[in-house]
Amino acid sequence: MTSSEPKTKKRFGATAITLAVLLLVVVLTCVPYLVSIALAEGPAQTDVAVASPIFGVTIPDGYKQWELIAPAEEAAPLDELRAVIGNKIAIDAYQVGKLPFPDGTILVKRAWKRKQSAEFASATIPGPATTVQVMVKDSRKYAATGGWGFGRFINGKPVDAAQHRTCWGCHEARAKSQDYVFTRLAP
Ligand code: HEC
Repeated sequence: MTSSEPKTKKRFGATAITLAVLLLVVVLTCVPYLVSIALAEGPAQTDVAVASPIFGVTIPDGYKQWELIAPAEEAAPLDELRAVIGNKIAIDAYQVGKLPFPDGTILVKRAWKRKQSAEFASATIPGPATTVQVMVKDSRKYAATGGWGFGRFINGKPVDAAQHRTCWGCHEARAKSQDYVFTRLAP
């Protein structure tokens, strides 16, 4: 009886070590997967990938259905057709001439390459989309830039921080009297 005791203990010890090693292997195998799932699907990560640098502005949902404020055209070398559109808060403010624009105002500038109509030579129509530019009014969050947050996107991706540093300077210098917004409601 007593002579078999150390043998059992030894076998038990070996089993415990084997189990511990197995557990360690399983944990080490799973950890990278768990980390990558957390990083890929966590809300913070998705926001960062689509938001503009500096301002954290994103392309607003459903903007393609928004109302037109005015079209615009850009001469060469860009040669673009543009349309500035706005959400309900923006349109309401424009209609009564409310300045400054209230918090929650969102303005979007869509832009396309110019294209000649295939059906009618003198007609110019939108070609491929080039950029989507967004201005969001939040007077507290963006107090340092006239209450406006800026975002410029190409193929749905924000452009770099250097480009975002130029937005405020131009809008501030040239459109100050209109709450830093260039576009007037088209008659
Ligand atoms: C050098 C001047 C300049 C710079 C820099 C500039 N903009 Fe503008 N922006 C304009 C002008 C001019 C308009 C009027 C519409 C047009 O002619 O395209 C405009 C219009 C807009 C509009 C529509 C509302 C409005 O003010 O009329 C948005 C949105 C916008 N810009 C976003 C941006 C963003 C985002 C950036 C930075 C990435 C930026 N802009 C940088 C000149 C500028």
